[in-house]
Amino acid sequence: MGAMRTLNLSLRPVGLEDAPLLHQLFLRSPGYFALMGMEPPALEDVARDLATLEGDGRRRVFLLVSEGEVVGYLDYKLHYPEPEDATLSLLLIREDRQGQGLGQRALTHLLENLVGAERLYAVVYGQNPRAKAFFQAQGFQHVKDGGPALSWYVLPLKKAPPQPTLGREP
Ligand code: ACO
Repeated sequence: MGAMRTLNLSLRPVGLEDAPLLHQLFLRSPGYFALMGMEPPALEDVARDLATLEGDGRRRVFLLVSEGEVVGYLDYKLHYPEPEDATLSLLLIREDRQGQGLGQRALTHLLENLVGAERLYAVVYGQNPRAKAFFQAQGFQHVKDGGPALSWYVLPLKKAPPQPTLGREP
């Protein structure tokens, strides 16, 4: 019988002081950067990117933590491109932890954070068949290709249930 894994996963907002942790995560996930035709970013580049977070009130960036270990990264933008939308820029599961259901679980957490949004876009860069298959398996539909290196997917979200009407009793 296959071992059952309890995939405990939490999302921790990323702060400037997390640049080294995030850098380590990227170094341990070289396959993704190779797909993009680049080296994993240097620590200074990671720190610089995190520093720009403060200037963008809509961007949300989290470390994915399981059993005290950083196993992934989640980067999305609220109210983008339209006010009722959200857009996922990057979901990255550490290379040695891919294919264990963590990506799926991270997406579930994200959806819980998106109450009120009407749709979630996912932008896939480069030739990344695995990412495309992942999003399609999670119910996303292909929307359009923005050139050869950019594909947009969308997941329609459930509308919030109507609020109960209060104070209407006679
Ligand atoms: N054990 C084993 N497999 C499981 C479990 C489990 N407990 N739970 C679910 N699975 C299956 C899923 O059903 C799925 O099966 P399928 O592919 O046959 O449908 C499969 O595992 C993959 O799902 P996850 O394991 O959740 O996927 P993963 O954790 O690998 O996350 C991701 C997918 C994010 C694409 C990951 O592989 C990754 O980080 N890749 C590199 C970075 C990347 O390309 N990210 C996407 C960029 S585009 C963007 O973010 C908008």
